[in-house]
Amino acid sequence: MANTVPPPSPASKLCRIIAVVILALIVLFGLAVLITWLIIKPKQLVYRIDSASVHQFNQNNNHLNATFDFIVKAHNPNGKISVYYDSIEVSASYEGQTIAFNTLEPFYQPHRNVTRLDAALVARDVALSEALSRDLKQQRTSGDIGLDVRIKARIRFKVGIIKLKHRTLRISCSPVKVHMSSLKSLETTSCDLDW
Ligand SMILES: *[C@@H]1O[C@H](CO)[C@@H](O)[C@H](O)[C@H]1NC(C)=O
Ligand SMILES: *[C@@H]1O[C@H](CO)[C@@H](O)[C@H](O)[C@H]1NC(C)=O
Repeated sequence: MANTVPPPSPASKLCRIIAVVILALIVLFGLAVLITWLIIKPKQLVYRIDSASVHQFNQNNNHLNATFDFIVKAHNPNGKISVYYDSIEVSASYEGQTIAFNTLEPFYQPHRNVTRLDAALVARDVALSEALSRDLKQQRTSGDIGLDVRIKARIRFKVGIIKLKHRTLRISCSPVKVHMSSLKSLETTSCDLDW
């Protein structure tokens, strides 16, 4: 009456060995990723607008001339990751319309570094809709205007000697208050990151 289990065929034995090897490789790979992550400890890059001012502001016949100056503070808190900024575009918009734009010089940011970027954005005879022009005039009388500052950067991370592939970083800072008097606004505005 004894139920004897038939001995495993050589083929199923081989299958079992392959399965065990694959499982072991997956576990090892997972451990390697975890250990690398723990050693590198990636931290989010941090951006902030530290000051905002405007010069040569002239609004006439629904057109605008102005130069906006922003100090952007870029903070890389990582101890093992540095950043190549290969291209940087900065734009300022008012109620959804882009009114000023500029590109900044590429730079390399070492690890644990704070770099202040000076962004001068020029609005040259920008056409505004009648409604927008009216809103802007009205807001100016209150002493400051609120702008959305957006930064689009092509960056590469460097970990040790390895350079990773390009990524596009979208940074959005809003609302950035610009005082219409000649005084600099020293209020800071923190920025959101979008990968
Ligand atoms: C802006 O400047 C240009 C010259 O650069 C001038 O032709 C234009 O009239 C100015 N517009 C305003 C609104 O001041
Ligand atoms: C950050 O890096 C830049 C460029 O390498 C350097 O000029 C600056 O002094 C560094 N700042 C700090 C706080 O280390």
